[in-house]
Amino acid sequence: MPPLPARRRVAVVGTGAIVSGSHLPALRANADRVALVAAVDVDQDRLDQFRELAGEDVAGYTSMDAMLDAVRPDLVLIGTPPSLHREQTVAALKAGAWVLCEKPLTLSLAEYDEIAAAEEASGAYASVVFQHRYGSGAVHARDLIASGELGAPLVAHCQTTWHRDAAYYAVPWRGKWSTEGGGPTMGHGIHQYDLLLHLLGPWTEVRAMAARLVHDTESEDVSTALVRFENGALATVVNSVLSPDEVSRLRIDCADATVELTHLYGHRNDDWVYTPAPHVASDRAAAWRAPASDVPSSHTAQLGALLDAYDNGVRPPNSGHEARATLEFAAALYKAAFTGAPVHAGEIGPGDPFYPSMHGEHPDWAPKESA
Ligand SMILES: NC(=O)c1ccc[n+]([C@@H]2O[C@H](COP(=O)([O-])OP(=O)(O)OC[C@H]3O[C@@H](n4cnc5c(N)ncnc54)[C@H](O)[C@@H]3O)[C@@H](O)[C@H]2O)c1
Repeated sequence: MPPLPARRRVAVVGTGAIVSGSHLPALRANADRVALVAAVDVDQDRLDQFRELAGEDVAGYTSMDAMLDAVRPDLVLIGTPPSLHREQTVAALKAGAWVLCEKPLTLSLAEYDEIAAAEEASGAYASVVFQHRYGSGAVHARDLIASGELGAPLVAHCQTTWHRDAAYYAVPWRGKWSTEGGGPTMGHGIHQYDLLLHLLGPWTEVRAMAARLVHDTESEDVSTALVRFENGALATVVNSVLSPDEVSRLRIDCADATVELTHLYGHRNDDWVYTPAPHVASDRAAAWRAPASDVPSSHTAQLGALLDAYDNGVRPPNSGHEARATLEFAAALYKAAFTGAPVHAGEIGPGDPFYPSMHGEHPDWAPKESA
C-alpha cells in the first residue's frame, strides 16, 4: 500500500465568527489530513479565546508576517474582513503556502488579478470559500444538468432573501465599499449565484437594479438582475438583506424537469426536489433521486476537496478562472445597476471604472468619505 501523505500544517488568520464556527470544525473533521499549528489575530482577546477553543497546541501570533516566517505553513485559512483578503492572500502565496480564503476573495477584479499574478510567481494556489457547491445534493444536480439528463436548462430563479438589522451593520467594516466591497450582492447572495453559475455555466449578459431602501450603508441593501447564459437559459437573481421571511432558493426549469433547492445557510439532499415534466416516464424520474450518501454543504466538504487537490498537486476547485467568473458576475451586476445599461461578459477590464471597484466611482454610490 502506498504511504499516506503527511498531515498538512495549517494556520488560520482571523479567529472571529467564521473561523471559530466553520473552519475549526472543518479542520477537526479532516484531522487525519491536517494539523492546526498556528492562529493569527490582531485582537489578543479573540486570539486567546480561539486558542482555548481549539484545544490543541496552536501557536498564537498577532502578526501574520511573523507567523509566516516562523511557521512556514502548507495551507493558510483566511477569515478576516474582506478588505484584508488581497494582501493576506498574496503574503501567504509569497511564503509558498496554499490559501483558502473567505468570500469575497477580493474587493474588485483588479485585486483578483493581483492574486492571479502572485499565484503564478509562487506556484501555490489561492481558492475562495463557496461551501454550497460541495454538498452531495449540489454535486448530483450538477452531474444531472451537465449530462443533459434533465434536458436543456431554460429558465432559473436565484433568490437570497435574508434579513439583517441595524446592529449587524453597526460592525464598522460592514456596508462600506472599502471594507466589505459591497452589500448583499458581494456579501450574501454571492453564495447562491455562485451555485447558479456552477450549475448553468458561463453567463453572457446581465441587466440589473440596486437600491438602498432601509440601511444607512454606502452600498446597496437589495439588488435584482436579469441574466442570459451562453446555453440560452435566462435567469432572475435577487440579493436582499431586507426580507423578514428568510430563504435561500434556486429553481432551474429544464426541458424535462424542474430542479428546486430551498434552504437558508446550508443544504442537504432532502432540500433538493426534482419535478418531472408530464412527458417524462416515472422510472426515468425515479433515477434522479438523491444519492445514497448525504454530504451537507459545508466548509468541511470544501476543505476535503482542497486537500485532494493539494495531495495531487493540481489547481484546487474555486480558484483561477472559475472563481474569477463569480466575481466578474458581481462586478457586471453593479455596473449594469449603476449605469442602467446591459453588461456583457468580458467587458470589464483595466480602464473600466468597475474594474478597480464595485461602485465604479458612480456619484450616487461613491464611498461616503469622498462623496
Ligand atoms: N462562508 C460563509 O458562509 C461566511 C459566513 C460569514 C462570514 N463569512 C466571511 O468571513 C469573513 C470574516 O467574517 P466574520 O463574520 O468571521 O468576521 P469577524 O469580525 O467575526 O472576524 C474577523 C476577525 O479578523 C480579525 N482581524 C482583523 N484584522 C486582522 C488582521 N490584520 N490580521 C489578523 N486578524 C485580523 C478580527 O480581530 C476578527 O477576530 C468575511 O469575509 C465574511 O464575508 C463567510
